[in-house]
Amino acid sequence: MKLKLFRNYEELSDFAAREIADAIGNKPSLALCLASGDTPKLTVELLVKKLKEDKIDHSKITFIGLDEWVGLPPTNTGSCHYFFQNKLIGPLQLKPSQYFLFNALSHDLKKECEKMDRFINDKNGIDIMLVGIGMNGHIGFNEPGASFDNLSHVIELDEITKSVGQKYFNEQVELGKGITIGFKHLLNAKRVFLMANGSKKAEVIKKTVEGPVTENFPASIMQQHENGFVFIDEEAASLLSKPH
Ligand code: PGA
Repeated sequence: MKLKLFRNYEELSDFAAREIADAIGNKPSLALCLASGDTPKLTVELLVKKLKEDKIDHSKITFIGLDEWVGLPPTNTGSCHYFFQNKLIGPLQLKPSQYFLFNALSHDLKKECEKMDRFINDKNGIDIMLVGIGMNGHIGFNEPGASFDNLSHVIELDEITKSVGQKYFNEQVELGKGITIGFKHLLNAKRVFLMANGSKKAEVIKKTVEGPVTENFPASIMQQHENGFVFIDEEAASLLSKPH
């Protein structure tokens, strides 16, 4: 795992977007897995801008949505589906065959997980995975205690996730379960970028980078990935004790 420090959120997002755009330039059939949420928002916007401005061919990329709130329709503005549809799939005019997002309304969620696993395997795994980190150390909906061996799965959401998650919605919603890509796919991904910004993420970044590797603190898995990169701004790095 490598750590990269940036002055602020804008610089961090610009760097991540540039890395991904360059990777697509080098491999037009790149399989890209992104998280939704506040942290990757600017990266996704800048990525779309760079791909268009630099006329990078994105007609062959594959896009994979990291997770979804179970029971929410894609029309809900707080859903991951809505985020990706509006920020990436629409603006890049991706064809349905080019992406897979979990259908969180499916009556057979196990089958959704199998479909996702098959989709990823058919692409020979994920090339770049860009994730954020939750206030409990989760990545996607890999909540504390989730096995590092998991493929896609459905999980009971942690209380912290349920309360922090309200920020994405216009009105109070009942959040219970999540459907997510598991850590087996993260460990198999060729490169993983974990991003965090702001002082509120300083504590979880300290645990991610300097704490023990344990399923009780999911993001610590980053330490096990040879091509795992933690991109943070100065505020998120403020509690790190060792020089990195
Ligand atoms: P955030 O979410 O980017 O909105 O802070 C991170 C997460 O919960 O994974």
